[in-house]
Amino acid sequence: MSSPETRLFLATTNEGKILEIRHALEDLPITLSTLREIKDFEVCAEDKPTVLENAIYKGMFYSRYSEAMTLADDTGLEVDALMGRPGVHSARYAGETATYEDNNMKLLQELENIPEARRTARFVCVMALGFRGRLIKSFLGTCEGLILTKPRGIQGFGYDPLFYIPALKKTFAELTAEEKNRISHRGKALERVHDYFQYSLEAG
Ligand code: IMP
Repeated sequence: MSSPETRLFLATTNEGKILEIRHALEDLPITLSTLREIKDFEVCAEDKPTVLENAIYKGMFYSRYSEAMTLADDTGLEVDALMGRPGVHSARYAGETATYEDNNMKLLQELENIPEARRTARFVCVMALGFRGRLIKSFLGTCEGLILTKPRGIQGFGYDPLFYIPALKKTFAELTAEEKNRISHRGKALERVHDYFQYSLEAG
């Protein structure tokens, strides 16, 4: 490993995401900073038609706030019985100022009367690496699961209490950040981010 001073700027204020990213990259000699440390930043519009485009745009947009490589994440929950909704609109599913709870309630309402076998869903996560206003690379991760009929668990954030992994018999909200990272959409995208930095560091 070479430079102990490699820095990475995380283009998010979301504590849940920051925790998961820290865990995934903790064995690399990378110093992380986040958007939480920037005062008065302009909020990037997330109005692109896909998660991929939003992530790329965010990565390029927020890279202006740091001299370091900038990592942005955009995630959507695709529910098959809702023809892929909320998808790219997952954050504002129940309205512009919706809380996690509002979004979860709306999801449960929309899936009322849908039997377990048809409650299949997946998280899709794209992480984009920006530098000085340009896209360097993007990384994809997905995770398949089922939407429960009521929330379970207190860990994580967002839709985690409703997102059930049959193989583990647990929701994401019943897993630690480390356990979630092993199987989650963001965890898989982060494995690719990890490998990218590991190879770059080894290559010097
Ligand atoms: P965004 O990527 O921050 O735009 O997230 C879109 C929506 O999905 C927000 O409501 C998030 O809370 C939710 N979300 C993003 N990642 C996760 C996750 O890992 N678990 C559960 N919900 C998530």
